[in-house]
Amino acid sequence: MSQTVRGVVARSKGAPVEVVPIVIPDPGPGEVVVAIAACGVCHTDLHYREGGINDEFPFLLGHEAAGVVESVGEGVDSVAVGDFVVLNWRAVCGQCRACKRGQPQYCFDTFNATQKMTLEDGTELTPALGIGAFADKTLVHAGQCTKVDPSADPAVVGLLGCGVMAGLGAAVNTGGVTRGQSVAVIGCGGVGDAAIMGARLAGAGTIIAVDRDDKKLEWATDLGATHTVNSTSVDAVEAIKELTNGFGADVVIEAVGRPETYKQAFYARDLAGTVVLVGVPTPDMTLEMPLIDFFSHGGSLKSSWYGDCLPERDFPTYVDLYQQGRLPLEKFVTERIGIEDVEKAFETMHRGEVLRSVVVL
Ligand SMILES: NC(=O)c1ccc[n+]([C@@H]2O[C@H](COP(=O)([O-])OP(=O)(O)OC[C@H]3O[C@@H](n4cnc5c(N)ncnc54)[C@H](O)[C@@H]3O)[C@@H](O)[C@H]2O)c1
Ligand SMILES: [Zn+2]
Ligand SMILES: [Zn+2]
Repeated sequence: MSQTVRGVVARSKGAPVEVVPIVIPDPGPGEVVVAIAACGVCHTDLHYREGGINDEFPFLLGHEAAGVVESVGEGVDSVAVGDFVVLNWRAVCGQCRACKRGQPQYCFDTFNATQKMTLEDGTELTPALGIGAFADKTLVHAGQCTKVDPSADPAVVGLLGCGVMAGLGAAVNTGGVTRGQSVAVIGCGGVGDAAIMGARLAGAGTIIAVDRDDKKLEWATDLGATHTVNSTSVDAVEAIKELTNGFGADVVIEAVGRPETYKQAFYARDLAGTVVLVGVPTPDMTLEMPLIDFFSHGGSLKSSWYGDCLPERDFPTYVDLYQQGRLPLEKFVTERIGIEDVEKAFETMHRGEVLRSVVVL
């Protein structure tokens, strides 16, 4: 038995997305069907539509979601029907060399549902990041579901499923930000602002937000930045140094994904400081710098995959902090929209007018 529901599909490169009927199979072994309550619109969804991720059209978009478990397949005991869950795109395998050496956050063999969701004519869909949650329901692997406090607002906590967790984790997990440190964040969209929120949560002293857009800098201040730098009018590296007694920040987080901002991050940190690259570059980008500078600055240069998060450890923790009023996750929800409005939300996002538009189902 299968069921037919609504889903937002990108049929071909660059074509506007459409809401169409999609077919969800009953969950097989290890699989779960989740009734989606809310799903945030992320840049990665737009990248899929533009053919920037791969050519496996048609895509079922959406991947920052929360919902309720509707049915579970054979052998699923980590979640049960009725559980309120946040979905993740890195279900760790427990078996690969990273998992075996006790670093499951790096798992090299994460997995998704085995069966395919399809269009009504049987065409197989590729779910964005193995999720596909701009839909009434979706099919995922049980490991992609993390149970959290059911009284939390799904539109807010679903955002932990991607960008907000990536930013929070870039600061807290990858950057290891701790009390009294100075932190600079370059690029203050959803990911960068979440890094700022994470730096504040971790007790950073000076938190410097860098962007080219004053509206983004206002939001960054609201989320915890102590200083802001508009890099269209001043040199970002000089400004960060000035704000840190001439030394540079202990941790600099790059949340744009471009060579020029990576270079700023590299030179804006203190000796032996840390650079975290959480922005995702495109394959054509290159960087040329004197090798001696890598030696003489010392410290560490890290990349952050999904904020080095472990969903089972991190999602319930951050949901609880949000519920206690200690983590303002609700500030990332700029607008709530219907399933028909994803295309319009891509335009709003492109114009830089939102941190997140969230589809509410
Ligand atoms: N590592 C991960 O697991 C992960 C997960 C999700 C997203 N990301 C990546 O994080 C990055 C940011 O995502 P987002 O959703 O916040 O995007 P966004 O577009 O909302 O934010 C980017 C911000 O960077 C600013 N910006 C652009 N060019 C700049 C420059 N030269 N100097 C300073 N600021 C500049 C923009 O004004 C904007 O505020 C993207 O590359 C995205 O792909 C990574
Ligand atoms: Zn693994
Ligand atoms: Zn995303």
